[in-house]
Amino acid sequence: MPEGGALTIATNRNAAGILLTFTDTGMGMTAEQQARLFEPFLTTKVRGTGLGLAIVHRIIVDAHRGRITVTSVPHRGTTFRIELPV
Ligand SMILES: Nc1ncnc2c1ncn2[C@@H]1O[C@H](COP(=O)(O)OP(=O)(O)OP(=O)(O)O)[C@@H](O)[C@H]1O
Ligand SMILES: [Mg+2]
Repeated sequence: MPEGGALTIATNRNAAGILLTFTDTGMGMTAEQQARLFEPFLTTKVRGTGLGLAIVHRIIVDAHRGRITVTSVPHRGTTFRIELPV
């Protein structure tokens, strides 16, 4: 959120496991950006490595058999939803 905004973090629990959501009011992403989000070294930041979400994917999906999904609207914001089985 280069111009500031709100980041809302929520946690929930159900029979299947734990649900975490991270919702920001930042720049959002196009469908094309979202499709390649978890690829390593893909970045739009001047000093980004593009590794952040590739590592998140490895931890959530590969190591813990969870799921991570994203919904995003350009210029409006983004929600990441993480489901972890318990
Ligand atoms: N919440 C978000 N809102 C808008 N764009 C995002 C968001 N999260 C990720 N992106 C986009 O996805 C790209 C890849 O993110 P990722 O975390 O993998 O790498 P990075 O943030 O660029 O680099 P680093 O994690 O090393 O700082 C970002 O450069 C940005 O374009
Ligand atoms: Mg990052």
